[in-house]
Amino acid sequence: MNMKTKIIYGGLRSLSRELASEEWQDTKYTILLDENTFQYCLPQLISSVEALQEAEFVEVPVGEECKSLEVVAQVWQTLMEGEADRRHVIVNLGGGCVCDLGGFVAAGYKRGIRYINVPTTLLSMVDASIGGKTAVNFGGVKNSIGHFYPSVLTVIDPIFLDTLPQEEMLNGQMEMVKTAAVTDPELFYKMIASADPQLIKVVARMKSRVVKADPYDRSIRKILNFGHTFGHAIEVYRGLPHGLAVGIGMKAAMYLSMKKTGLPEEIYSAYSQWLKEQLLSINSHLLTFNLKEIESMLPLMRQDKKNAAGNVRCVLLQELGAAMIDVEVSDNEIRDAFLHLDVTQSR
Ligand SMILES: NC(=O)c1ccc[n+]([C@@H]2O[C@H](COP(=O)([O-])OP(=O)(O)OC[C@H]3O[C@@H](n4cnc5c(N)ncnc54)[C@H](O)[C@@H]3O)[C@@H](O)[C@H]2O)c1
Ligand SMILES: [Zn+2]
Repeated sequence: MNMKTKIIYGGLRSLSRELASEEWQDTKYTILLDENTFQYCLPQLISSVEALQEAEFVEVPVGEECKSLEVVAQVWQTLMEGEADRRHVIVNLGGGCVCDLGGFVAAGYKRGIRYINVPTTLLSMVDASIGGKTAVNFGGVKNSIGHFYPSVLTVIDPIFLDTLPQEEMLNGQMEMVKTAAVTDPELFYKMIASADPQLIKVVARMKSRVVKADPYDRSIRKILNFGHTFGHAIEVYRGLPHGLAVGIGMKAAMYLSMKKTGLPEEIYSAYSQWLKEQLLSINSHLLTFNLKEIESMLPLMRQDKKNAAGNVRCVLLQELGAAMIDVEVSDNEIRDAFLHLDVTQSR
């Protein structure tokens, strides 16, 4: 299987040039989108990319609701009715949800057709549209069914961020800081100093580099799960958006890193200060945890995919850019980290 995605950092103009080339002559396209990307992003896409002006489009439900086998079947049905053959190409115009769904649809249709990711949220530009993981939710478990099946092209154009709500920007920023924390100290400090749009491409490249080194998530790619063991539990327990929950989870993971793997305290403090400023508008009772709540969250952490034999395993940091995977942490250490997780404090 081709595990290579060509990432186009030059935006829609570069995509337009690419699709005008010989290789794409006579290709037919179906654009997958949701209500918001239909309204805010489709006009940009088709006015900039001539090859897509005749494309069909299929609208799917907004958010996680589209990541279901029912929706997959509906899209397959539409492709069959339109007599889409193996040369047909799916264009995912949306956030991580549309990209995950469209990749899954493409992986199964006629044993696999090509697809292009055009990410329209910050999170999907730096994370979900890169790395070939496709998924739907099944049996009440998020991302439980999926493939490694990369897009042929991923096109990054920050123009789409003009209409993205602030809360969604914050979700993406959290994942950007995460990638920076596990790969590059300088990038980490740049990220927490300012939200420079130039950093989108830098972080996307960084994720792509990690994925290339370990496409099937067996070793080094796991560093990208930093903050996610705590984050997933917080996401489920508090109903917070994924990126936000990961941002909070990273503070807990940095606290444990300080205790267990020697992360210098000033890094923990710098991150805590930044996080506090980002979360000012969030109701503070969502952001602290008492002992009773922590006991209810422990089983959620044990369910995490990364654990072996019931022990919780985490990614921890020795330094910025030096992550350790599969570090076992005890229930008491988790309790301690949660109790210190007052994100309204800069310590
Ligand atoms: N495959 C991977 O490697 C990977 C990595 C990280 C996350 N994910 C998945 O990504 C999903 C989350 O992605 P997300 O945060 O992008 O969420 P999302 O796709 O639900 O998008 C967030 C919201 O923004 C709207 N939107 C999208 N683009 C817009 C724009 N330009 N202007 C205005 N509104 C816009 C969407 O309609 C939606 O309401 C999760 O399902 C997660 O599991 C996958
Ligand atoms: Zn994540």
